[in-house]
Amino acid sequence: MAQALDYKLGPRTFPTGWFVVAESSELDKGPMALRFFGRDLALYRGESGRPVMLDAYCKHMGTHLTASDSAMIVRNGHQIEGDSIRCPYHGWRYSSEGHVDDIPYHDGPCPKSASIRSYPVVDNMGCIMMWFDEQGAEPTYSAPFLKEWDQPQWIHWALDHLGELDVHPQEVLDNMSDMRHLEPTHGQPCLYFENEAKDHIYVQRQGGIMQLYGGVQLYTTTWYTGPGVLLSKQVWGDTLQYEMIANTPVEDGRIKAWHGCLVRGSSDTPSAEDIEIAKQTQAGALEAFATDFQIWRHKQPALQPMALKTDGPFKIGRKWYSQFYSDPDVAKQIQAEVNGCHYIPGVDKPADHNHAIDDGLPI
Ligand code: FES
Ligand SMILES: [Fe+2]
Repeated sequence: MAQALDYKLGPRTFPTGWFVVAESSELDKGPMALRFFGRDLALYRGESGRPVMLDAYCKHMGTHLTASDSAMIVRNGHQIEGDSIRCPYHGWRYSSEGHVDDIPYHDGPCPKSASIRSYPVVDNMGCIMMWFDEQGAEPTYSAPFLKEWDQPQWIHWALDHLGELDVHPQEVLDNMSDMRHLEPTHGQPCLYFENEAKDHIYVQRQGGIMQLYGGVQLYTTTWYTGPGVLLSKQVWGDTLQYEMIANTPVEDGRIKAWHGCLVRGSSDTPSAEDIEIAKQTQAGALEAFATDFQIWRHKQPALQPMALKTDGPFKIGRKWYSQFYSDPDVAKQIQAEVNGCHYIPGVDKPADHNHAIDDGLPI
């Protein structure tokens, strides 16, 4: 599988940003042992309800903090204390910041060298999202959020767990600039197209007749907030929905992906019928997205695409994405270089087709 170095993205192996690592409802069932960014991670919910993410291994003797459900301390419900967690082997207690602050059989100060890394993590739109930066820097922007999530008319997604895929995320991000796959892959010949780069955000505005939705005019504004979370506002007829697609590196060249749709119900107390329609809407959107997924699963890496000028602004998209593999000063230079709107020769712009769906979007 192709890796970050093969794509010449920058000095880092993994991108910097907010990433989905679990569905919130999974974490409600108890601590989780996860693997992302080439490392083992321990995720749990503290007694306050906040999620906590630590590097997985206790410094005492290397025990995974959240991979045991049979240790008595876990079975007795004594592993989580406040927002801290006790190692299941000898009971050393790690704070949510990753410091050992209590050893049950030791009176002196706890060794500072026992500290492990703690990662910024939020419970956001039904997802647990973590901030990852190889150098350990703090978040430079907030995790993406749709205000509709908190409005009663909107029916929340239950995520589709798409599993792991041996593809570098660059191939996934390429979709944003790839106007020419919309007709052959998704059955939607595109009438107009635009990409816009805005620092850590990358937007695609496009529209056309959508075969899968019964031949209606579909308008979409789709944006990545950083390298891992795509949100898309989609409007056709009276229907309005938001789609989320998340990709998170597991190893260099391997991702895990999730998918969901936030659908507007008919009133502030959505009926059983609304909920069923929302489920079907998500299934329909997944059918459209699954075609991309199948292509990624079987394709060769596009390390040097034979890009035509009329393919789409791939070079801009790839340059924008490379900021997440760069140190902050270089990332700023890349942003300055690519910020702005980008078009395709001979293809209409959104303004030519009444693309007026961006009001209220967080972009
Ligand atoms: S290995 Fe964690 S407390 Fe001993
Ligand atoms: Fe696609």
